[in-house]
Amino acid sequence: MDYKKLVELAYSGMEKAYAPYSNFTVGAALLTNDDKVFTGCNVECASYGGTNCAERTAIFKAVSEGYREFKAIAIVSNTKDLTFPCGICRQVINEFCVDIDIVLDGKDGYKVFTLKELLPYAFNKSELDK
Ligand code: THU
Repeated sequence: MDYKKLVELAYSGMEKAYAPYSNFTVGAALLTNDDKVFTGCNVECASYGGTNCAERTAIFKAVSEGYREFKAIAIVSNTKDLTFPCGICRQVINEFCVDIDIVLDGKDGYKVFTLKELLPYAFNKSELDK
């Protein structure tokens, strides 16, 4: 699947966002290694710490359906700017895929980053075996 289509799917995921507190709606579309797509949106909570980001919604949907290998994730928001994944989401993406493209859309079109660029010197699960 091309990244333009993945970005479109992220916007369709964003339509389901529940963000009554921030009004900042986010959508994600996660592409598995076997070309299945899981979309996600942010889900806020009156007890703010209960909020879940769009990226983690997509990842948890995929993992709970038995998919753990991913090659790209597109992230969009209701702003005109690129929306970078938060630190917690970067770490959760890293849990499953160290080599993954992060596709961000903005007013000048989409841009592709790698997780390694966005989360250098990551803490990895292999550390726990030492
Ligand atoms: N948000 C995401 O969904 N993904 C991110 O990577 C950044 C933040 C959401 C969480 C919250 O609902 C709103 O954006 C404002 O932080």
